[in-house]
Amino acid sequence: MRVFVTGGAGYIGSHVVKMLGEKGYDVLTYDNLSTGNRWAVLYGKLFVGDLSDSELLRKVLQDFRPDVVMHFAASIVVPESLREPVKYYTNNTMNTLNLLKIMLEMGIGKFIFSSTAAVYGIPEKIPVNEEAPLNPINPYGSSKTMVERILQDIHSARSDFKYISLRYFNVAGADPGGRLGQAYREATHLITRALKVAKGEYDRLQIFGTDYPTPDGTCIRDYIHVDDLARAHILAMQYLMDRGETDIFNCGYGHGYSVREVVKAVIRVTGIRIPIEETGRREGDPPVLISDNSKIKEKLGWTPFFDDLEYIIKTAWQWEKMR
Ligand code: UFG
Repeated sequence: MRVFVTGGAGYIGSHVVKMLGEKGYDVLTYDNLSTGNRWAVLYGKLFVGDLSDSELLRKVLQDFRPDVVMHFAASIVVPESLREPVKYYTNNTMNTLNLLKIMLEMGIGKFIFSSTAAVYGIPEKIPVNEEAPLNPINPYGSSKTMVERILQDIHSARSDFKYISLRYFNVAGADPGGRLGQAYREATHLITRALKVAKGEYDRLQIFGTDYPTPDGTCIRDYIHVDDLARAHILAMQYLMDRGETDIFNCGYGHGYSVREVVKAVIRVTGIRIPIEETGRREGDPPVLISDNSKIKEKLGWTPFFDDLEYIIKTAWQWEKMR
């Protein structure tokens, strides 16, 4: 089976390509290397190209003739999306629409979409399930919500188009084998940022907001190990190929940790003191995001292997120390 992976040179995409390759699937990565890296593509060919380049995209798809497309390529940093909304609507919404348009023209009708918990905004009920209303509170979340709507509309119009949207919660950790991990030029995510402080790359960690309505006043997130998320993609793809059913699944562990709890865990794992600066809230942050993961467990038979914050941090630390 042939799997076309956009963004396969990026953080999550590369872990999925690794797993696809290990399982013997024929993989092709299409990535513009804006945030991805050549070395991260452990299996299959890498094609360097942009999703806005219709001519190139059409040609690569025509030559490869994939059975399914997995679409990771996107911009993913919430604060950046508030500063540069046009970048997010272009990269995430317009480019996805372009990809879908070309897929439909060519009769490729199976699609796995990297969606996000950010589509929920500030959920009314925690843990949040897939039926909750979509009320994104930042451009990043809106750019992905728009794609979910587009997918729904195409699905209604075309019986030959089936998709699965995976709504990721906070993805963290690295390949336990030490071959892959987060490699952004600027680290903004909490665990990576804290580890870079431990490493001495930054002098302190800022805690954005200590007055949230949570037990210790800091935001709570549901951290999921990247390989557990990668496995969810393999299961989703098999489900889509075998049953041909469209669906949406949350990807998280169903419990959360506050920013302070994460910092404490980073100190325990690294044995290094992390200088902290408590600052004001960061715009666009919901106070609590925790998944209800019963649907993915039931329908896809997904079970987490690495539901352990210290283990997640350990794999990321091992990766950081090697870089
Ligand atoms: N935080 C800090 N200091 C930092 C970095 C982060 O206090 O230096 C806080 C944030 O304010 C937030 C929490 O840590 O409360 C997590 O922030 P991240 O930047 O690590 O992640 P986000 O929750 O903003 O977003 C991530 C992904 C999104 C995804 C979302 C889903 O970047 O793509 O998780 O929950 F949609």
